[in-house]
Amino acid sequence: MICPVTQDLILAARMLRDGKLVAFPTETVYGLGANARDENAVARVFAAKQRPYFDPLIVHFAELAQLKQAVRTFPSELDRLAQEYWPGPLTLVLPKSDWIPDLVTSGLDTVAVRIPGDDRARELIRSADLPIAAPSANRFGCISPTTAQHVVDQLGDDIELVLDGGPCRIGVESTVLQWTDEGPVLLRFGGLPVEEIEAIIGPVRTHTNHAAASSTSPPAGPGMLSKHYAPRTRLTIVDEIPASPPRRSGLMTWREVDSVTRQGFVIVETLSEQGDLVEATANFYAALRRLDAQALDEIYAARFPDKGLGRALNDRLQRAAVRE
Ligand code: TXA
Ligand code: MG
Repeated sequence: MICPVTQDLILAARMLRDGKLVAFPTETVYGLGANARDENAVARVFAAKQRPYFDPLIVHFAELAQLKQAVRTFPSELDRLAQEYWPGPLTLVLPKSDWIPDLVTSGLDTVAVRIPGDDRARELIRSADLPIAAPSANRFGCISPTTAQHVVDQLGDDIELVLDGGPCRIGVESTVLQWTDEGPVLLRFGGLPVEEIEAIIGPVRTHTNHAAASSTSPPAGPGMLSKHYAPRTRLTIVDEIPASPPRRSGLMTWREVDSVTRQGFVIVETLSEQGDLVEATANFYAALRRLDAQALDEIYAARFPDKGLGRALNDRLQRAAVRE
């Protein structure tokens, strides 16, 4: 049975309290929410997503006081960052307290925490009065959802409710930053550009091991699977858009291309006519889905400028382009 879609926040909060799975909007992507303190509900999140148990979940909070219950320590070096960017598209990986069950964190002694920037998301969490574990509301390895309909299409049979908040404002997942004894390490490029983080806390090391992991075995670090966020169609990243692509091809570009270039493609998704990376990010996953629905032989995707949000999008393209 396909689950209902609602705008009733109180109903959604009540269902979370009852141990149900409720997808909800955040400013980044839709999350598949469950009471983080309820191990049955959390186990069902992994099952619904077909996500391996070695890949830990992010726990969402309405405010900092609530979040601090989930961590053993909150490094003072991160105070300003949290002040500046929470609520917002930033996830911090910190030492975990016993308040959060081990299942949520795949047995790690760290927990990923964030305060989402979407007002409805925080209102939902506040009403439920619970920490909410929520991965992106898509099947494991597939394209992340930025509308309620995307969630219904993939998970409608396996969850209890979708809270509809319209399209997500940012459109790419949160930036994940771990605090270690050796300082901050970036685990995932995302909606908060790393340049903005560095402006506050100084240089951040980047953990990159695309080549090391596959989607079937545990990665060197969680969340570093090489193939991820992937369409079914073959995807190739290009610096120059091919003038006459060989097969039935689609094109994703982040700025307007001329009509001669367009001719070679069955479908062209222009993420932003003006080449605005904020607009391009908001359109990214929905455009990838539309391309994937065309039964193309190949999707060509123009590489994004390697700065700001462009780095998060290039990261997603790279994982989408991995061939197994
Ligand atoms: O924007 C977002 O972050 C969305 C919305 C719903 O909040 N959530 C999201 O969750 O993208 P998910 O599960 O799709 O991605 C969470 C990432 C994964 O790569 C996971 O491995 C990593 O965070 N992660 C979670 N806990 C971790 C931990 N303790 N240590 C290292 N990485 C962790
Ligand atoms: Mg995800």
